[in-house]
Amino acid sequence: MNWHPESWQSRTAVQQPNYPDAAALARAVDDLRLLPPLVTSWEVEALRAHFAQAQAGQRFVLQGGDCAESFDDCRPELITNRLKVLLQMSLVLVHGMKTRVTRVGRFAGQYAKPRSADDETRDGVTLPAYRGDMVNASPFTAADRVPDPRRLLEAHTRSAMTINFVRGLIDGGFADLHHPEYWDLAWVQHSPLAAEYQARVDAIGESLRFMERLAGTELHEFNRIDFFTSHEALLLWYEQAQTRQVPRKPGWYNLSTHFPWIGMRTADLDGAHVEYCRGIANPVGVKVGPSITEDWLLGLCRTLNPDNQAGRLVLIHRMGAEKIGDHLPRLIDGVRRKGHRVLWLCDPMHGNTRTLGNGVKTRRFDDILSELTAAFDIHRASGSHLGGVHLELTGEDVTECLGGARELLEQDLQRAYRSQVDPRLNYEQALELALKLAALP
Ligand code: PEP
Ligand code: CO
Repeated sequence: MNWHPESWQSRTAVQQPNYPDAAALARAVDDLRLLPPLVTSWEVEALRAHFAQAQAGQRFVLQGGDCAESFDDCRPELITNRLKVLLQMSLVLVHGMKTRVTRVGRFAGQYAKPRSADDETRDGVTLPAYRGDMVNASPFTAADRVPDPRRLLEAHTRSAMTINFVRGLIDGGFADLHHPEYWDLAWVQHSPLAAEYQARVDAIGESLRFMERLAGTELHEFNRIDFFTSHEALLLWYEQAQTRQVPRKPGWYNLSTHFPWIGMRTADLDGAHVEYCRGIANPVGVKVGPSITEDWLLGLCRTLNPDNQAGRLVLIHRMGAEKIGDHLPRLIDGVRRKGHRVLWLCDPMHGNTRTLGNGVKTRRFDDILSELTAAFDIHRASGSHLGGVHLELTGEDVTECLGGARELLEQDLQRAYRSQVDPRLNYEQALELALKLAALP
């Protein structure tokens, strides 16, 4: 394979910032190249094995986190709450689906965002678009918006702090996770399914206590929870600098994350992102939306997984509740006819974004649930298997998505709308979604 971590540079790289100071960029990339990695190749291999099992229907993948992390949000409370909601959701899914669940956080590196235009104009002033904290800052001033390569190093530092804290919490037990009496369940009473939800949460608590009695120890001591990270591999300078060889193993690993993915905007077969992704040993994901053609998708399968390895290629479909029925069946069919082995995940968020009259971006809980329900049905009807979900969520009490048991309305959104980018499920909505999924037939 004629590939090198820098070979993407000979292709067209869309969605990259224009750094005004090439020497400063080169210095930052050089510095980044020498810093310790954030994850290890063993962990990457472990995740690939998990994905292979999920592909075979023996596991379910729960991937979730913010649309974009921000440097300011590298705070212990926020990290703890996000981890907590993901772990609680995973317990609900383990219980309801009766399968093992692999948890993949969308964090510790989710600092770069694709944008529809390179520039933004306000009142006659044109500045570079905000591309995420790894690139520039969001206030509309020239100083904030100019892409600053030192932010690559800051992103690495904050990712390292995040992952370090998550590892510490998990290794230390984070005990209240295992005890649903500490879960925040006041919202449940607002749901018509209150009794059913309470019964499930009680049953989870009972199973955990039973296992603890059996083992004579607290659960976390005999069940160290695996946790993996992921982010969109958008800013290729950052990814390149952390792509490493390791002793006694062939190949190159992206050691900034276990699971990088690319969006459709960067999934051009001849483009730089596909070139970069084809050469790394990590599992890689590609988002697929309604405009993907069968040829394009099959080209991605051939290019990104030429050896047809299990657990290597993840297709994350994000069609929207209204379109999934029109598009997913043909894609599943095409991939299967060619014998490609892939893990299918459903992202029920990005096809269901709508902009309200006042310009606020939101998503309806019911659309999200409806796309997910359809995804399970379509895979089953096609003889395929939905191996997991990809969600935008937070552990905080934000008001960004409509609906859920508390029936958040448009006028509620202003109370706590904090996302700079896409609207996220809040703590309650995320847990409610897990309870709904757990109850699907
Ligand atoms: C995202 O995951 O935040 C995103 C931009 O998604 P997509 O590429 O699917 O639109
Ligand atoms: Co998003």
